[in-house]
Amino acid sequence: MSAALAATDMVLAREQKLHALDGLAAAAAHELGTPLSTIAVVTKELEHHIGADDPLRDDIKLLNAQALRCREILLKLTRHPSEQDPLHARVSVRAMLEEAAAPYRSGKANITFVVGPEGAEGGAASPEAVAERRPGVIYGLGNIIENATEFALKEVTIRALWNTAEVVVTITDDGPGFPPDVMDSVGEPYVTTRPAEDVAGMS
Ligand SMILES: Nc1ncnc2c1ncn2[C@@H]1O[C@H](COP(=O)(O)OP(=O)(O)OP(=O)(O)O)[C@@H](O)[C@H]1O
Ligand SMILES: [Mg+2]
Repeated sequence: MSAALAATDMVLAREQKLHALDGLAAAAAHELGTPLSTIAVVTKELEHHIGADDPLRDDIKLLNAQALRCREILLKLTRHPSEQDPLHARVSVRAMLEEAAAPYRSGKANITFVVGPEGAEGGAASPEAVAERRPGVIYGLGNIIENATEFALKEVTIRALWNTAEVVVTITDDGPGFPPDVMDSVGEPYVTTRPAEDVAGMS
């Protein structure tokens, strides 16, 4: 009985963490909405005022397009599942991983998916898990996949194996692995071994 209660507690704690992640994403997206709208409006105004052959015209158009793109990304993070097309509100494990990996598929690393029931060769295979589409989870997986593709030599493998109780997702790459001094602080913000100019997002 106490083991069952402890297990329930763990599941609840994990659920709360995931909801907190979605909440943080929604709060950040909300805060960024106003300045991004200002950039979109001002760049549109500038585009109207600037001469057709002004050399800055293309730059201003690019700024406007990028501001709109940022707004679309934020919308993806904030949209409530109930507002989505019902077809997309639920997602299979494979579809969720493919969505998370999509932005990194044209990078230097080749991404291979191994998705299926655990030990399928032997016993009866359990059906693929389908769950609520959580933007925060997809975003989080995307961050790990991004790291793997950037630190890999050339291969990244995304594995998801499930049984009737859980799905285990493993993301591996053939790169040098985590530097030992980073291991203790994995998961904390502002920990990086990238050169300063990369971290500032200037690359
Ligand atoms: N797949 C990986 N292989 C080797 N080291 C990794 C890998 N993923 C993360 N790391 C190490 O962990 C550090 C922190 O990763 P994190 O994603 O938090 O930041 P970052 O990738 O350096 O910068 P950002 O994600 O903000 O662009 C990295 O700088 C790197 O040292
Ligand atoms: Mg990273």
